[in-house]
Amino acid sequence: MELIISQSIKTLNDYCAELLSKCIKEKNEAKIGLATGNTPIGIYQSLVSLFQSGEVDFTNVRTYNLDEYLGLPKSHPSSFYSFMRRHLIDHVNLKEEHINIPHGKIASPEQECIRYNHILAQAGKLDVQILGIGLNGHIGFNEPSASLSPHTHIVKLTEETRRVNSPAFSSLDEVPTHAITMGVASILRSKSILFMALGKEKSKIMKQALEGPVTTQCPASLLQLHPNCTVFIDEKAASELDVKNNIYDVQYI
Ligand code: PGA
Repeated sequence: MELIISQSIKTLNDYCAELLSKCIKEKNEAKIGLATGNTPIGIYQSLVSLFQSGEVDFTNVRTYNLDEYLGLPKSHPSSFYSFMRRHLIDHVNLKEEHINIPHGKIASPEQECIRYNHILAQAGKLDVQILGIGLNGHIGFNEPSASLSPHTHIVKLTEETRRVNSPAFSSLDEVPTHAITMGVASILRSKSILFMALGKEKSKIMKQALEGPVTTQCPASLLQLHPNCTVFIDEKAASELDVKNNIYDVQYI
């Protein structure tokens, strides 16, 4: 597994944005899986800068988000749709019809899972999937569990996830209890994965995810099975990794 380590988060963000931009230039209709959360915000900022300086054009880019809170309308400031608008969509020339995010406020969540699965099936393999990791090892909202669902499904959020995500809401009570998430098969189907972890608080879970057993109790550990997953990690999040271990191909930037 390729490990790109830097002490500078800005350097990691710029590097990831350059890779995405290269992919967008090379493919006629690049298909990119997007993530929300604090981790990818800097990548989006770097991408917006590249767009503003004319280095990348999103006209033909298709995006597919990992997840959305169940029960939140798109217009809710804490919805992932709003997050994507604030951090990327409002600042680049992505076409509305090319943006795919599960709908959180719908009469039938089950139907919405079917609809989103259909969209992913039609898209085929994404070119790149951006991924962060939860403190409990979740990817998307695939929470640790005795078993994992392969395709888009409704998930009950753990109390830890609700607490960790509560700063985006006015109180813990307002954090939705459920979400719609892409399943792990859909995530692993991407041609390449750009897996990012930042900060000391992620060091323990990154050790488990990359060096621990592959287990549904740490969904990110399944990324060990992906043939083209590159880990972008700052020195703090990498502090517990055995970087000399020959499972890694390490590059410092
Ligand atoms: P974070 O969230 O980037 O805000 O740490 C990551 C996640 O929960 O997947």
